[in-house]
Formats: sequence, C-alpha cells, structure tokens
Amino acid sequence: MTLKLLTPKNWQQYELIDSGEGEKLERFGSYVLRRPEPQAVWRKRMGEAQWQERAHARFVQQGSHSGSWERYRPMPDQWYVDYAYGGMKLRFRLGLTGFKHVGIFPEQAVNWNYLYDKLRPIKGARVLNLFAYTGGASLAARAAGADVVHCDSIKNVLAWARANMQASGLTDIRWLLEDAFKFVRREAKRGRLYHGIVLDPPAYGHGPKGEKWKLEEMIDELSQAVAAILHPEQYVLIFNSYSLGFSPLIIQNLIHTHFTQHALRKLESGELYLQESSGRKLPAGIFSRFSSG
Ligand SMILES: C[S@@+](CC[C@H](N)C(=O)[O-])C[C@H]1O[C@@H](n2cnc3c(N)ncnc32)[C@H](O)[C@@H]1O
Repeated sequence: MTLKLLTPKNWQQYELIDSGEGEKLERFGSYVLRRPEPQAVWRKRMGEAQWQERAHARFVQQGSHSGSWERYRPMPDQWYVDYAYGGMKLRFRLGLTGFKHVGIFPEQAVNWNYLYDKLRPIKGARVLNLFAYTGGASLAARAAGADVVHCDSIKNVLAWARANMQASGLTDIRWLLEDAFKFVRREAKRGRLYHGIVLDPPAYGHGPKGEKWKLEEMIDELSQAVAAILHPEQYVLIFNSYSLGFSPLIIQNLIHTHFTQHALRKLESGELYLQESSGRKLPAGIFSRFSSG
C-alpha cells in the first residue's frame, strides 16, 4: 500500500502564496490573508515587506482558540469564491471569523471532486455529511444529484452552509442541528442506509445540547456506527481528520476494523496538502476514502 498526497489543481481563486515561521499567506479570490499555521516550522520564502504589502488582513491570536483580524487594506466583510470541476459549479461565501477560519478548507476540493465523480452513477443516492461545517461536501454531493443530510452542531454554521447552497444555485439540502454521533446511532437503530457518508470530525467538539465529542475516545465507536449505516452495495465513504499527530494509517485501521461488509479494494489513504508556486507542500490533514464504483 502506498500513501497518496493530494492537492487541489487548477483553482484560480485560491493560492497558497507563502508559508513559514508559524504563518501562512493565502489568496481567496481577490483578498490575501495572513494567518497562524503551527505546522509551518520552516523559513518564509518572501520577506516581511512582501507579506505586509500583499496581505489585506492578518489574524492575530489572542487565546489558544480565538483572536481578531487586523485589516491593512480595504476588503469587504463577506465575499465569494467559485470552484468548478466537471459539471459542478460551487460558490462559497467567505468571511473573517474569530477562530481564524474563513469558511472554507481549500484542500477539501479533492474530496468534493471524488464525491461528485463517485455519486453521479448512483441513482437516488442518499448522502450524510457529518461535522459538515459550511458544506463543501454537501454541495458537491447535491451537485451530483444526491439527497443530502448535512449535520452540524452550530446554528450559525448551518445558516452559512445554507447561504453557500443558495449561492451555488442548489436547493433542498436537509439541515440538521444535531450531535453527529447521536444522529448516526439513531439512524443505525432505525435501519436507515446512506450511499455516501462524509465525516470530518474535529479533535474536540460539542453537540447542540453540550454532548461531548472527543476524537481519540470516540472515533472507534463512531466508525462502527457509520459502517452500520453505509449501504452494503453502492457506497462512497470519505473520512478526514485535521487532528495534529493523527496518521492516515490510524483512519485506515479503523476502516479495516469496522467496514467488514464493504469491499476495500479501492481504499486510498494519505495526506492532503496545499502547494506554493515554489513547489513547497503545506500539510492540511489526512484522509481515507473508498467507493464501490
Ligand atoms: C473541522 S470542521 C469540518 C470541516 C468541513 N468538513 C469542511 O471541509 O468544510 C468541524 C465541524 O464539526 C462541527 N461539530 C463539532 N462537534 C460536533 C458534534 N458533536 N456534532 C456535530 N457537529 C459537530 C463544528 O461545528 C464544525 O463545523
């Protein structure tokens, strides 16, 4: 088995300009943002003057999880970026949040393409997106014609995902404000099956009623429950993680442990990354994915 390294290709609206010394400089559409990046332990390619000249705004960390943006050049509070692949055209609303996020994880584009390609041949596909955030995977699945359930525990995040659906010219995604684990267990009890399941669990999280999510303690049980609701004949599964120190082999082991009803010939695992024009690769999480077709 070889591990794969995947990165989005030919995306004019996104660019990793430089990284290093604990930061990254990225362009989202017309706006350039400077953010902390703990994994960038190397030196920057460009000098401080160039970073300052390019950046519209910079995220300054105040606590371990929050901070604020300093603006250097005029930019709107909200703006849009487009993503296209095959017949799929997605539009995302971006904004500067208090958690250094902007509403999109660009490296996930490789998974949107995969989902779109694998779901299109499945007639009447039902898809569940867990820990679904602003909905990149939900939009890709919906664009492929699937019925989509989008589950997240934060109301504002669901509203943001809905705005992305509308901006992308899509309709009828089912929005679910629910604890991901609780929902999967309930669906398993009801004997509900999904052809596509995407899960992108954070290291720590909370359900809407304060239900605790802790990746290391709960991922094995969640994987088991997810395996029980994945359709046994026609299926696509994408499992992501951003947790520092988590290796792709960990997810692969979980999949081999629990998805015993599914053929895993096409299982692929590896790292996602973002690439600078110099060729330098910034790690951006790990994935394992497989499909029946
Ligand atoms: C790392 S983000 C996922 C990124 C997303 N898959 C993407 O590519 O855009 C984690 C998301 O999980 C949600 N979350 C955290 N704990 C949760 C829980 N217990 N149940 C459901 N969603 C949860 C958060 O609100 C957040 O939107």
